[in-house]
Parts: sequence; structure tokens; C-alpha cells
Amino acid sequence: MEFSPDHPGYHDQKYRDHRARIAKQALSYRLGQPVPVIGYTEEEQGIWRLINADLAIRHERYACREYLAAADRLALPSDRIPQLGEVSEALRRETGFRFAPAAGLVGIREFYGSLASHLFLATQYIRHSSFPRFSPEPDMIHEIVGHGTHLCDRRWAEMYELFGRAVRRLTGLAAVKEVSRVFWFTVEYGLVREDGKIKGCGASLLSSPGEMEHFHNAEIKPLDLPAMVGQEYQVEKFQPVLFCADSFAHLEDFLGDFLTTVEDREAVPST
Ligand SMILES: [Fe+2]
Repeated sequence: MEFSPDHPGYHDQKYRDHRARIAKQALSYRLGQPVPVIGYTEEEQGIWRLINADLAIRHERYACREYLAAADRLALPSDRIPQLGEVSEALRRETGFRFAPAAGLVGIREFYGSLASHLFLATQYIRHSSFPRFSPEPDMIHEIVGHGTHLCDRRWAEMYELFGRAVRRLTGLAAVKEVSRVFWFTVEYGLVREDGKIKGCGASLLSSPGEMEHFHNAEIKPLDLPAMVGQEYQVEKFQPVLFCADSFAHLEDFLGDFLTTVEDREAVPST
């Protein structure tokens, strides 16, 4: 992969070589094979232990109860980085979802389309040690702590599958982008009201100590489709606007209604 000069690992050739080996294994992976086993360095194991402890404290305060229950079932180890394959096996037993390795960013149709087949394409590398609390790309900590925990929950697994089915059905890019925007503000950064408090339920939010500390400073809006679709988002900064469901069931209804009715926006050519 290409590293931009502002990437934390840009000047670290050993890290770049390690990432290149992980990417090469992902590229040669074929569905049905065992997920490649990665030899994580002691430095990477240290990042996992640090972030895992950091997240656990914040999850107790900020994560919704559905996330906490799923995390209990998944029981990721705190003392070592689990292999993607072993997390995948746990998901398969709980909800039928599996992880498959991705070398880097995956095309939008391939990523969502795979969800319809209960497959989540995930990275296996770990962020650079110089910024352990920040990753410019979705690393494996985000994939397993965020999406892995979601996919251990039947209700989330059904919502992920609906995203996949919607994108498979759509032919135009405009509607797929709309689905992607809704994914961002719900699956990645969703909030939910619980006993009068606002809790996090999104995978990006709950895999980032910084985002969890910051989300109360964002402008928090109720679930509203036009507002969500029209809302710009930030990839490398804290989110200035977030959307909150009245309950987890409200989030399910909102996504279910949207994903089963979303249609292509492009005009159908008249004959
Ligand atoms: Fe993600």
C-alpha cells in the first residue's frame, strides 16, 4: 500500500515491510481457506494491551447495554492480540457471520455486498506505535472491538445483512452512497438513548477512546433520514454532528425501514 507522508508509520521501514507482508497474505487469501495467522510484534501486543484497557474503562461508562452483552459473549483476550481467524470462528458460532482478510480499503460494492453473504472484510494490521490511540485507517483493533462485537449480536448481524442486501439490489452509485452515509452515522457512529442517558453503539465510536470522551460535545440530532444523508462527516477528526436513536429497537426500525425501501435515484431512461 501507499503511505502518505503524514501517516504515523511513513518513516518506519520495518513497520511498512510488516504491513506489506500482511497485505500480501490477504491478497492471496481465497474464501474457504483458514484466515492467515499474523506474527504480531511485541510492540503491537503492547498497543493492544494499552488500548484494550483504555477502552474497557470507557465502555463501562459510555457503551449501550447491547454492546456490553455482546462483548461479554465475544470475550476478546486482554493480554494478547487475538487472531482474526479465532474471532471469526466465535462470530460464526454466535450469528453465522465470518471475517475475511482485506489488504486495505475495499471497494464500496464489494464491502457492502459481502455483508449480504454474512462476510465482513477486515484488515489485520495494527496501527503504528507512535500514535497508539489513533489510527488514520481502520486497523484490526477497530475491526474486532467495533464490528466484531456488533457481529456477535443477532440484532446487529441482521442490520449488517440488510445493508448488504440493499447495496446488492441497487444499481446506481448515488443510492449506494446514501446507504454508506447512513452506515457511517449508525453502524460506525450511532448513539442510543438508554435510561435517560445517551450511550454509544457505533463501531468507530466504541473502538476509539478519544471519540468516546468527545461525543457529548458533538451536536446530537434525533434519527432523521434527510438530515443524515445530507450531513457531511469527518474521517480524521472528532465528529461534529451525531445522531441518536430513542432506543435500540428504534434504531432497528429506522434501519429496517430505510434499507428495505431505498431506491435508485438515477432517472430510468424512457423507451
Ligand atoms: Fe468500520
